[in-house]
Amino acid sequence: MKIEDLRIQEISREVRDGCQELNLPDSVLRQCMDKLRAQIDLGLNPDTRDKSTVKCFNTYVQDLPTGKEKGQFLALDLGGTNFRVLLITLNGRHFDMQSKIYVVPKAIMIGPGEDLFDHIASCLESFTLEHRVANKNLPLGFTFSFPLNQVGLKNGILTRWTKGFNCAGTVGRDVVEMLNAAVEKRKNTLKIDVVAVLNDTTGTLMSCAWKNHNCKVGVILGTGSNACYVEKIQNVIGFDGDKTKPYVIINTEWGAFGDNGELEFIRTPYDKEIDKNSVNPGKQLHEKMISGMYLGELARLLLVKFVKDKILFGGQASPALLEREKFLTEYISSIESDPRGVFKQCRNVLSKIGISDPTDQDCSNVRYICESVSRRAAHLASAGVATLLNKMEIPSVTVGVDGSLYRYHPHFHNLMYEKIPELLDPRIENPTINLMLSEDGSGRGAALIAASGSEHNV
Ligand code: BGC
Repeated sequence: MKIEDLRIQEISREVRDGCQELNLPDSVLRQCMDKLRAQIDLGLNPDTRDKSTVKCFNTYVQDLPTGKEKGQFLALDLGGTNFRVLLITLNGRHFDMQSKIYVVPKAIMIGPGEDLFDHIASCLESFTLEHRVANKNLPLGFTFSFPLNQVGLKNGILTRWTKGFNCAGTVGRDVVEMLNAAVEKRKNTLKIDVVAVLNDTTGTLMSCAWKNHNCKVGVILGTGSNACYVEKIQNVIGFDGDKTKPYVIINTEWGAFGDNGELEFIRTPYDKEIDKNSVNPGKQLHEKMISGMYLGELARLLLVKFVKDKILFGGQASPALLEREKFLTEYISSIESDPRGVFKQCRNVLSKIGISDPTDQDCSNVRYICESVSRRAAHLASAGVATLLNKMEIPSVTVGVDGSLYRYHPHFHNLMYEKIPELLDPRIENPTINLMLSEDGSGRGAALIAASGSEHNV
C-alpha cells in the first residue's frame, strides 16, 4: 500500500463527507466568475453602480511608477489590525523607510469617528516629532483600506466599514477632511500635506509595478480581501479623470460580492453563523469566505461540529475550542506547515486550545478540515483573479499580492498558482501569470502615489 493511501484512510469518512460542501469544483468556480463579472460590469457604470455589490471605484491613479520618483514622504496605513506611520525617502531605485506600528484599541475601532482620527493625528504627531519632520509640511499618502467612493486623488467618501471597524458618524463623509480636521487641532506642532488617499490594493499594485512594469493587478489576502486592476478608460462609463491617459486603476471592492445573494448557492451553515455573529451582518460575504479575519473561526465551527458528532477528540471539546474566535487563522497555517503524516505543529496548536493527547487520526482530520477551509478560500480568490484577467484579455500579467494570509499560509500561493490558469478563458493564448509577493505595498505604494500627486516630486 502506498503512503498516500494510508494517509487517506486516516481521515474519517464522516469528516471527508462533512467537508464536501467546501470543495468547489471548477464548474462551480466558473459560475462564481460569471456572477462576479456581471457585478463588475454593473459597478463600472455610474447609472447601475447602486445595484452592484462590486462597486469598482475609480482611484484616480492613472500612471504606473516610472522608477524616477524622488523626495521625502509620509504615509499612514490604516486598514488591518494595526495602524502604521511611515517616513519614506525615494530616490530613483533607492528606497529608504522608517516606520512605527501603533495599536488601534478595540474601543476606538468601534467608537466615535472623531476619536479614531484624533488617535491617528496623535500617533502622526509623536512619530514626526521623533523623526524631526513634524513641521516640514511633507506630502502624505493615506492608505485607508476600507471602501471609499473616491471623487479625486485626495478625496474619498467612506461608504461602509469592514474588518471589525465601525466608527460612528463617519460613513458618507470624506476621510481626508476628517484627517485634516484632526491634524488642524495640532497645528502648532504638526504640518502635513495630504496629497493622496488610496486603498491597500492600489498600494500593492503600485509597489509591485515599481519593480515589475507588467504588474496590472493588486490583491490583498489579509485581514480582509479585495483586488484592483488596470482598466481602459473607455470601459469606465462617465470617467471624470484625465481623459488624455489611456488607463486608470479600479478598486473593485470585491469583498462585498455576494451581498445581494449571488453566493447563496455555495454558502454553508458555517458561513452563515460567522456572518450572524459579525459586526456587519449581511455585508462583505465574499470576504467572509476568504480572508484571514474569518478562516480560523470557520475552521473552529467545523471542528466543533465534528466533536459534537463524536468524530473528533472522543467527543470531548475544551472550553477554548467552544469559545468564539479562539482558533486563530495563523493556527491553520501552522497545522498545514507540518509535512504530510507529521503532526508536530498540529499537536502544538491543539495543546494551545486545551486539547491534549489527540490521536493521529484526530490530527489527520484536523488538518483535513483546515485544508478544506483554506483551499476553498484560495480557490475563490483564484476565481476572482481569473475574472479580472479574463476581462483584461492580456496574456502576460503579474499579479501583486499582499496580506498576512497569503504571506504566511504555506500553500496559498501554490493553490492559486495552479488554479488561476485552469480558470482562464481558453481564448487567451499562451497565458503567463505570475503572482508576486508585494514588499510593503501599503507604505511604499502610498509614497509612490504621493510622489505622483505632489509638487514635492522634483
Ligand atoms: C476593504 C478593502 C480592503 C480589503 C483588504 C476590505 O475589507 O473593504 O478596502 O482593500 O479589506 O484590506
